Amino acid sequence: MHIKMVVLAVALFVILSSCAVECWNTNSEMERLRCEQTTLHQQQDALAQMRLGCHQDRAKKEVGTNILTYGAVDEEDDSLHVSEEDSRKQGDPCFHYTVLDQAWRATNTTTSYKRCDRNVKWNGWYRLFYNGKSIQMPERCVPVDKCGTNSPLWLAGPHPKRRDGIVTRNVCGHWKKDCCAFKSTPIQVKKCLGNYYVYKFTQPTSCRLAYCADINTLVCGRCRRNQSCVSQDKINWRCKTKKRILSNPQIHFFASYPGQLTGKVNRIKYSKVLVNMGRAFNRGTGVFTAPVKGVYQFFFSTQTANTNLKTDLWLVVNGYWVAVSHTHVFRPSTVGNLSTYMTFLRKGAVVYVTHNSGRSWANGSSMTITFGGSLLAQWK
Ligand SMILES: *[C@@H]1O[C@H](CO)[C@@H](O)[C@H](O)[C@H]1NC(C)=O
Ligand SMILES: *[C@@H]1O[C@H](CO)[C@@H](O)[C@H](O)[C@H]1NC(C)=O
Ligand SMILES: *[C@@H]1O[C@H](CO)[C@@H](O)[C@H](O)[C@H]1NC(C)=O
Ligand SMILES: *[C@@H]1O[C@H](CO)[C@@H](O)[C@H](O)[C@H]1NC(C)=O
Repeated sequence: MHIKMVVLAVALFVILSSCAVECWNTNSEMERLRCEQTTLHQQQDALAQMRLGCHQDRAKKEVGTNILTYGAVDEEDDSLHVSEEDSRKQGDPCFHYTVLDQAWRATNTTTSYKRCDRNVKWNGWYRLFYNGKSIQMPERCVPVDKCGTNSPLWLAGPHPKRRDGIVTRNVCGHWKKDCCAFKSTPIQVKKCLGNYYVYKFTQPTSCRLAYCADINTLVCGRCRRNQSCVSQDKINWRCKTKKRILSNPQIHFFASYPGQLTGKVNRIKYSKVLVNMGRAFNRGTGVFTAPVKGVYQFFFSTQTANTNLKTDLWLVVNGYWVAVSHTHVFRPSTVGNLSTYMTFLRKGAVVYVTHNSGRSWANGSSMTITFGGSLLAQWK
């Protein structure tokens, strides 16, 4: 057995044990599950890497399999998580790739020993790393004898956008002043969430050709979600913030209070939230906060059944009591009341409902104490 294999086995053990502890320390069941899935993923990658490592250049000592870096998980957005989970299930290459972290592939390295990717048994999808940092293929001609080989392979076409899905790109090998002296086998490329790419490498047409990792794209691994990595000359890359499309934000909410209210209740905590597009309504506090400047419409309702009791609910906008939903029962019966209000709000304005007096009635399914609203038009 090679020393290389032993090193990998030790690395694998360290990863597994450290992540197992991490998963254990995590509180919520969901987080633990997610953590364990990631561990599973890393195990698969480590194993795949070991297999790949065995096929590759036996004579070489340099392995560089840094598999600890993982950049694809966003902790903020729940909706993204759902789609990420789905993608995993469907075998999305963005989550099923082999880590290819070999420093000799960098566009700025020259090695005396020249590699040949024709000798590698390519299988499935790969993601390029440079010392644990995400990196991408060059989109420009690379000088001969770089990337640890004689004829460096570069991508003869732009990297795809996310909406393009999987694309096929030609690959060129530079040799003797001809940037595309070797027209190598085309490969497939996909852009993933989190600003990285996966490549379906195939055996190049001849030796000695090797796929390059563009050292100038190291900066791309540091771009945020709302940024993309751009370059005018394909040499200097930088993170550029995408323009947010604010033309038509969808803000709608509808919530109910599933119990009974008596007397003064400063802020009704409508805990049963049925609609909350744009997440501007806070279930914990019962407060709606305007996310953008614009015209909003609100509605709120109540129901009373006690004879001769006056019940008042007030809509409170930025501390001002602006509209009432009033009920007054004269004889034994039940009355309800629904009030609406339309107003112009600045970003950050707060809106809630106060139960000022009387008694309001509702149960888990009656929907008699409700509060809802919508952004009708945004003001730029
Ligand atoms: C290649 O670039 C990387 C990142 O800038 C640097 O750390 C490394 O020393 C460079 N290698 C050579 C051989 O210049
Ligand atoms: C981009 O996302 C970061 C957080 O990842 C945030 O702080 C920043 O405000 C966002 N910028 C824009 C223009 O959306
Ligand atoms: C509903 O509220 C309005 C305005 O306060 C009031 O005039 C009306 O009588 C109320 N309806 C009932 C059934 O109490
Ligand atoms: C809730 O109120 C509705 C309407 O009065 C009634 O039909 C239903 O049985 C009540 N449900 C419960 C669980 O009390």
